[in-house]
Amino acid sequence: MLTTPSKKMSEKIILAIETSCDETAAAVYCGTNELSSIVNSQIEIHGQFGGVVPEIASRNHLMMLPHVVKQALLKANLVFQDLECIACTFGAGLQGALLTGLSYAKALAYSLNIPLIPINHIQAHIATNFLSVLPPFLCLVVSGGHTSIVEVLDFDKFSVLSSTADDAMGECFDKVARVLNLGYPGGPSIEKAGQGHKANINFFKNARTKNSVLSFSGLKTASVNYIRQRQSDGKLSEQQVGNICASFSKAAIEIVVSNTFKYAKQKSYKSIALAGGVAANKDLQASLIEQATQQGMIVHCPQLKYCTDNAAMVALCCHFQNAHNYMTVNNPSYLNLNVESNLSIETMYKHCKN
Ligand code: KG4
Ligand code: ZN
Repeated sequence: MLTTPSKKMSEKIILAIETSCDETAAAVYCGTNELSSIVNSQIEIHGQFGGVVPEIASRNHLMMLPHVVKQALLKANLVFQDLECIACTFGAGLQGALLTGLSYAKALAYSLNIPLIPINHIQAHIATNFLSVLPPFLCLVVSGGHTSIVEVLDFDKFSVLSSTADDAMGECFDKVARVLNLGYPGGPSIEKAGQGHKANINFFKNARTKNSVLSFSGLKTASVNYIRQRQSDGKLSEQQVGNICASFSKAAIEIVVSNTFKYAKQKSYKSIALAGGVAANKDLQASLIEQATQQGMIVHCPQLKYCTDNAAMVALCCHFQNAHNYMTVNNPSYLNLNVESNLSIETMYKHCKN
């Protein structure tokens, strides 16, 4: 067994677990060194329903988690007894899905007599940026459940400047894709369908909300109404679908990019980072980079493998928050820990403080 009481957190072998939505993921890390990262996506299962079915997600996590963890250990060439710490997402996310991961993590930590570190899912998305930029910086968080502009003041200190008033950006992509019968998840399929097509439809013309506000319901309704109207006239051609996707993407990107720069200027940030599933969108990345270059700012985009849900980001979050001694590794109350489906971006698991 590798455990030595005096070992620094950054040298410990961490098993990270992520089950907040429809990806069952486990990763083994030592500091920022990735020994393995396994993601089992349930996309195909939920795809047939047009979106994530929470109960089905939980059942699949229960079934897959032992295999995913086993695979992560095998790939890292380690056994359970080599683990020195378990990091697990405890919120935000689907209640049942989170419970499967946390219950597994608690049982494993208890049986191995090693610490359990509860991790905030959105902080984990943001933490992947710590590999290339140190706080303070401004972060645009765009996922299926969150759209926020966050001041990352320190590894464990976050201040939300603005959050979507309604739908999240990824959710909006998913809903528009569903109406276009492009399948789930909608983000990648809308991006693909829109490639090489003209963004020649102005959805803001009929939307109640404009791009100066972080809100997607106006754009969503305008897009869905437009699509339904055209669909009632007959089947949409590939070119029509492509133009709709290009126009919708451009408008959605405009909303987040204009708001991000508004806050960056207001708060005098020169470094902007991107986090969450929608961060995988190349047009979003390009738009941020183009505007940042014009304004003398720098944009940091996470690697593709860190954009959508994974456990590597949970391990990195654990590493960066603990490496700076903000959470103790010896928390006897962890067995009482519960999941928090509506956990705010700013919340740390306080009972773990030294
Ligand atoms: O972070 P994530 O995996 O899960 C949540 O924490 O919500 O984000 C999933 C979201 C989905 O809504 C998906 O459609 C969106 O990220 N997404 C994208 C792209 N890839 C994933 N949206 C736009 N463009 C993409 N390439
Ligand atoms: Zn996520």
